[in-house]
Amino acid sequence: MICLSTTANSVDGALEQLRRHAGEIDMLELRADFFAAVQDGRGADDSTATGTFHRFADEARRLWAAQRPEHGRLEIILTIRREHDGGRYRGDERKRMRILERAVSTGHYDYLDLEEDLLETEDELAVVGAAADAGVTVIRSFHAPKGAPADLCERARRTASRAHEVPKLAVYARGSAELLSVLKVGRELGRRKRIVIAMGPYGVAVRVLARVLGSFLSYCSAADSEHAAPGHLSPTELYRTYRYHELSEHTAVYAVIGDPVMHSRSPQFHNAVFGDRRLSAVYLPLQIDDLSVFPEISRHLGLQGVSVTIPHKGAIRKVLSDCEPAVDAVAACNTALRRRDGSWYGYNTDLEAFLAPLTPVFGREADGGPRLAGVRCTVIGAGGAARAVVYGLLARGAQILILNRSPERAEALAAELAASLGVPAPRTAALQPSARELPAAYRELLVQTTSVGMEPHSEGDPLSFYEFTGAEVAYDIVYTPPETVWLQRARRAGCRVIGGRAMFEAQARAQSRLFLAQLAGEELPARTPPVG
Ligand code: ATR
Repeated sequence: MICLSTTANSVDGALEQLRRHAGEIDMLELRADFFAAVQDGRGADDSTATGTFHRFADEARRLWAAQRPEHGRLEIILTIRREHDGGRYRGDERKRMRILERAVSTGHYDYLDLEEDLLETEDELAVVGAAADAGVTVIRSFHAPKGAPADLCERARRTASRAHEVPKLAVYARGSAELLSVLKVGRELGRRKRIVIAMGPYGVAVRVLARVLGSFLSYCSAADSEHAAPGHLSPTELYRTYRYHELSEHTAVYAVIGDPVMHSRSPQFHNAVFGDRRLSAVYLPLQIDDLSVFPEISRHLGLQGVSVTIPHKGAIRKVLSDCEPAVDAVAACNTALRRRDGSWYGYNTDLEAFLAPLTPVFGREADGGPRLAGVRCTVIGAGGAARAVVYGLLARGAQILILNRSPERAEALAAELAASLGVPAPRTAALQPSARELPAAYRELLVQTTSVGMEPHSEGDPLSFYEFTGAEVAYDIVYTPPETVWLQRARRAGCRVIGGRAMFEAQARAQSRLFLAQLAGEELPARTPPVG
């Protein structure tokens, strides 16, 4: 179930959040601690507060009946979250208990959130009694908003100690190791009705996969509103992007792993492909800071494949049992698939993606790749990104000049890649005005791979000393901005230009083809196939 947690400070604001998302959710949590009148426990007496809550519940159900008539009665959780648990309530604890007792006794709510540390306290007995009389189920919650405590297992056991309650664990994951702790503790709770959440960016996968991992709901916050807890997605993301209601233990799970990853556009791309084809598959952002726990996390989440991004493109190699030759040649893997025996096989789709936009320009070889044999190219830069570019060009027989600010780095790259492919080493030179004449002999294709011209330093032009003739093909693999200053200059001179977005999209398409082949149960290819 998708449960919207209201975060407005008034009844009308909370109803507006419900109105916006009613079509996407199944349940509602009234986070009454966000109400201005409740926050410090002084703004209203008990009866005014409970009267406010009831008005909210009545109007929310009227709205629900109008917008979702087929869906039956709207179930509502009542929560007044304390500040030290990550909520807004700063008032007196006795008063909070009195408000909750009054509020649940009238049957307006289906669930009541009560914290684990209240178990067996005198204050709590009256509230639990009132809840039982009114048929309200207690969600027994444990919150660790600052990270997993050392005694997490014990707290989890205590939280789950009453069979008729719904245990809820909400732990902020400060890193991948804590995400793993939460996954393990969740599994130990067994198959009972429960809620397990890893808060923050490292835990987003647990929110998306709540159904699969055995939680009966996933909380979320209205779009463009304050979040009820760190890492909340919007109902629209859960419902539409991740197709929450279609996920099951049979769903194939994919992810992009990196740190950070929450800005990645890959989930939009791959989930749209899965959705269009009505495949039982989902693609998540999975922030990983410590790659050593990745294999165990991947088993818990049932990952079938991953996109790999910064900073793990090199280090992922030790997780792989095997890979296509290009991965070792360029010392980078951006895609890994799990084979039937559980081992991981690595690809580098950046390579084919770099080549793909060149096919319409230089023609197609019989294998589907671009016809580059003998084409004279200058590559600007000799860093990590240049490795895939130089490797791809060399493998297709291009004649290359590498210009780099540090010429020794260009020499090392040229020698290493030429040796791995068994071809003569490309020519190299320092990237400076004295090299002005050199590109003249290598100017059918110029490829820009440095970070010069990339946002936020988009004014840079790494080849400002060179004048385009208009006959060159200019290719900048930078895609922010879509057209760099260097590329604009090439376009103005009449060159054919290729921007980095073409490569970015091609690598996603290449990855998608690998994922789709795996989902179709096909034999996994030994190499990334050329992308058209
Ligand atoms: P990436 O993986 O993005 O290629 P990298 O390995 O750090 O990152 O390489 C950055 C590339 O941009 C290198 O070719 C670098 O030149 P050096 O090898 O001389 O460092 C180049 N680069 C970065 N800043 C530059 C600048 N201001 N002028 C020229 N080249 C620059």
